[in-house]
Amino acid sequence: MEKLVIQGGTKLHGEVTISGAKNAAVAIIPATLLINGVCTVENLPNISDVQIQCKILEKLGAKVEWLDNNTVRFDTSNIESYKAPLDMTSKFRSSYYLIGALLGRCHNQDIEVGLPGGCKLGARPIDQHIKGFEALGANIEVANGKVIARAEKLVGAPIYMDTVSVGATINIMLAAVLAEGTTTIDNAAKEPHIVDVANFLNSLGADIRGAGTDIIKVNGVKSLKSGSSYSVVPDQIEAGTFMLAAVASQGDIILKNCVSEHLDCLTAKIIEIGGHVEDTGDEIRVWCNKRPTKTNIKTAPYPGFPTDLQAQMGVVLSIAEGTSVISENIWESRFQYTYELNKMGAKITTEGKTAVIKGVRKLSGATVKSTDLRGGASMILAGLCAKGMTTVTNIEYILRGYENLDKKLNELGAKISIQKE
Ligand code: EPU
Repeated sequence: MEKLVIQGGTKLHGEVTISGAKNAAVAIIPATLLINGVCTVENLPNISDVQIQCKILEKLGAKVEWLDNNTVRFDTSNIESYKAPLDMTSKFRSSYYLIGALLGRCHNQDIEVGLPGGCKLGARPIDQHIKGFEALGANIEVANGKVIARAEKLVGAPIYMDTVSVGATINIMLAAVLAEGTTTIDNAAKEPHIVDVANFLNSLGADIRGAGTDIIKVNGVKSLKSGSSYSVVPDQIEAGTFMLAAVASQGDIILKNCVSEHLDCLTAKIIEIGGHVEDTGDEIRVWCNKRPTKTNIKTAPYPGFPTDLQAQMGVVLSIAEGTSVISENIWESRFQYTYELNKMGAKITTEGKTAVIKGVRKLSGATVKSTDLRGGASMILAGLCAKGMTTVTNIEYILRGYENLDKKLNELGAKISIQKE
């Protein structure tokens, strides 16, 4: 077991390069199953969720070759198994994309994918994924901890999503790409990683229109082309985490390799609380030279305020002047980090979907745990701006989703080390 030790009190300063988006990468990797051929994916974040997804593909018979730290060549010509075991799929959430990709690839085979795991953020149903697969003609059964899926053939259909779901939108796209006819996904999610997965598939010859809007149309094609390369979009949430780290530490940093329009809503909030953001094309400078002021946050699907930045924003508001209110509208258990933050002197009370944060002047170092991936990142931000030393345990959550977070922060002047527990 490892822990992170942070000596607080340094203002971040310098440049940081943002990695490829985790939540696009974990869908693009299983999507290579649809090619039945070869493809090179660049700008993959080298994090544990990506590594496990690659290992599962190997287990199914794909050849997976790391060409460098962030580039992988996938050869999915010889898939021998359509069964992804529970001991692998339960390690992360996005293993559910294997269902859509395997269904899309093969017909009349029993597909078995162990149920997904991932951060404990409350109930994480997959009913909308299943509803979509069934609409395309698949038989789905959930039993013994796995999803068993089978279809003679998939035929495009109109699908209305009862709730806006990132995972279900992407999964239905994966299943529909090679289906017969047209699939319409109504009330689709619009996150940047959905657009990226659609761009990836279209670069291989798929016909997906409207990704990034409420209605996505997938016109089925007979096959996808082999032999091309694709570079994953920069990670919106990693970029947002660094922007908030700059504000929390009253630093001044430049983010390279990011897409500023994916961060419009965070930029507006940072300016509202007294920080500064300057967008110079594909670089963003963020700085803050005074104590931030209160604001209210309501998480919502894109382009709303991302739930995945709620905890990091919670840290900034915990040291802001005045009282802020956060409404978490996506996940029911995303305030677990507040109990840890209160150990550092924050004054946060929660009830249901609402957290009330009375800003304090300073946090003080303590031993705190990562409650989930973004909760863990928020503990690091808290440690950066706290007085004294902070120890963060359960850091495996953080390593799942951020590439070299400690190294990148240290290059900005932070004092963080990973130590054995
Ligand atoms: N939902 C349903 N039924 C479904 C699917 C979702 O009711 O079939 C509900 C969920 O319970 C939740 C809401 O719909 O209340 C949104 O869930 P969504 O399906 O959008 O979430 P997800 O696909 O499981 C992805 C990200 C999460 C991120 C959410 C919301 C991946 C691998 N994960 O999860 O990322 O919080 O979208 O943006 O893309 C993270 O990176 O830390 C993380 C948790």
